[in-house]
Amino acid sequence: TPLTARAVMQDAPVIPVIVLHEVQHAVPMARALVAGGIRMLEVTLRTPQALACIEAIAREVSEAVVGAGTVRSSNDAAAAARAGARFAVSPGYTTALGSACREAGLPLLPGVATASEIMAAQAEGFDALKFFPALQSGGSAMLKAWQGPFGDVLFCPTGGIQPGNAAEFLALANVACVGGSWLVPGDALAQGDWERITALARAASQLARG
Ligand code: 3PG
Repeated sequence: TPLTARAVMQDAPVIPVIVLHEVQHAVPMARALVAGGIRMLEVTLRTPQALACIEAIAREVSEAVVGAGTVRSSNDAAAAARAGARFAVSPGYTTALGSACREAGLPLLPGVATASEIMAAQAEGFDALKFFPALQSGGSAMLKAWQGPFGDVLFCPTGGIQPGNAAEFLALANVACVGGSWLVPGDALAQGDWERITALARAASQLARG
């Protein structure tokens, strides 16, 4: 069965938001996350090496499901799919991006922060959405307010989520998972401290969902 955005969100309590500057970090990092129980990996298109990193993970870490983050244009979507990404995450939503992801066969988790943005994404068939930037846009109180009018939408809040506040989000019925960068600290990558990344992933994978 084809991968869906809902399945991406429901796999683990946390989707790691990853920034990689070195292609050589990609495979050991992905293996470390998988060893900790996290296999849906969002590699952001924020560095010149991001596509090569996605390619390496897709080729060498079969237990991982690598996706592209910070996907903003149709070109980003096409390039991510060519590199082997299996899903896409975007900070916002446009019709062009939605179409490009469909054409590329990439399930998309589009970013939204307002009711109108939810309605625009939902009207075009997207109902598993990233709430971004979550803390700055109203946090868990905003998600609670959306449960009434948007009870059929599932969210992945991202932006400002940490181990200390993840539980508050994961307890909500309309939250499937959260996104966060804390699983892959830059200094752990620089030091090749894969055990630390595995430990962070293991703790994240054991967070309770409501
Ligand atoms: C990002 O834009 O990098 C993501 O939203 C992750 O944010 P975080 O660093 O607050 O987890």
